[in-house]
Amino acid sequence: MSESYTITVEPLGREVECREDQSILDACLRNGVWLPHSCTHGTCATCKAEVLDGDVDHGAASTFALMDYERDEGKLLPCVACPRSDVVIEADIDVDESVEVFPVQDYTGTVVELEEIALHTRRLVIELDRGIGFNAGQYLKFQVPARDGLPAVDRTWSIASPPTETRRLEFHVRNVPGGRGTDGWVFGGLTPGDTVSVAGPYGRFVLKTDDDRHAILVGGGTGLAPLKSMVRHALENDAYDGRLTLYQGARTREWLYDVAYFLSLADQFPDRFTYRPCLSEETEAECGADATAYGFGMVTDVIAADHATLSGCTGYLCGPPPMVEAALKTLMGKRLFPRDIHREDFFNEGDKATGGVRSPLIKR
Ligand SMILES: Cc1cc2nc3c(=O)[nH]c(=O)nc-3n(C[C@H](O)[C@H](O)[C@H](O)COP(=O)(O)OP(=O)(O)OC[C@H]3O[C@@H](n4cnc5c(N)ncnc54)[C@H](O)[C@@H]3O)c2cc1C
Ligand code: FES
Repeated sequence: MSESYTITVEPLGREVECREDQSILDACLRNGVWLPHSCTHGTCATCKAEVLDGDVDHGAASTFALMDYERDEGKLLPCVACPRSDVVIEADIDVDESVEVFPVQDYTGTVVELEEIALHTRRLVIELDRGIGFNAGQYLKFQVPARDGLPAVDRTWSIASPPTETRRLEFHVRNVPGGRGTDGWVFGGLTPGDTVSVAGPYGRFVLKTDDDRHAILVGGGTGLAPLKSMVRHALENDAYDGRLTLYQGARTREWLYDVAYFLSLADQFPDRFTYRPCLSEETEAECGADATAYGFGMVTDVIAADHATLSGCTGYLCGPPPMVEAALKTLMGKRLFPRDIHREDFFNEGDKATGGVRSPLIKR
């Protein structure tokens, strides 16, 4: 039985119990104390807070996200830091009243669908043992089982289905060669009927349902997943009053998926939803009769050509960090303020080693 310590979170003055092998963020989220976070694996620095009293083990904090001098100054990343005594931390808690807080819980799921939907990309559908509450855009952590002498690890995948579907959840997973969770599991043995252990919901990349501005949603690769949840929630559940334009970036058509689905949504909701699939390595000539459905060039070039200004809009960017960074610059160049842009960088374990923290311009 591992030892537990008391974590006091200032300025809330809330106390939670945290095991010595549990992250401080995890203990807080499971006990209804919301702390800012994004990647939950020590890479993005969103959760950075201050230790006012007590000792912590900094765990797997990236040396880019938490520099040595910051450790010396008493900073910590609660998503990976575990207590070594009772601890008092001070966090920058900016609770967004429009976002519902669902405490993190553990669930057991059964794989009900696993299909190839694009190059190196699978749709994974699981049925949970009971309903889960979440906001459109949030993600779950999957426990990737121990294998070949390697311990179990957690991997995060965004929910692509809307929050009204509380038991049957959809995910889009791209294979990463050599990756534990993808190559070694989702693409390396997982099959329908298998049982999976998941926890959630996590993340603050959520559709702001009290907003009514034109939302520009930009997804690269499987960065489409949380945006699909948002679009479906907005349209099917009438959860968003503004227009939505979805840009889906890929190199070629074989990397794109759900195109027919989004084209039919755009037909169904012509005044509310526009869909722009974009191809960066295929030309109009190569697409032939299909060409009218696509924008050609980098997704950022297509956005720039589509809009003289984006002033008065709001942005949701998701996918590989370089794409998110490029889209951020494009949106800002079109007069969107950082505070009006929400981002989800799909940081992986490799980013931890090479430095996941990028633009200081925007709060994650
Ligand atoms: C908030 C969030 C949401 C996400 N949602 C999705 C989603 O919906 N769909 C999706 O496809 N992905 C998503 N991701 C990415 C996902 O979590 C995984 O990172 C990705 O699927 C790869 O996992 P893996 O276990 O296969 O790879 P990993 O085992 O994590 O390896 C990834 C890469 O890093 C390298 N690497 C591993 N360990 C180290 C190390 N110690 N040092 C140096 N290099 C290392 C590997 O060789 C490989 O190239 C999301 C990420 C975040 C943060
Ligand atoms: S949430 Fe803690 S570093 Fe990303």
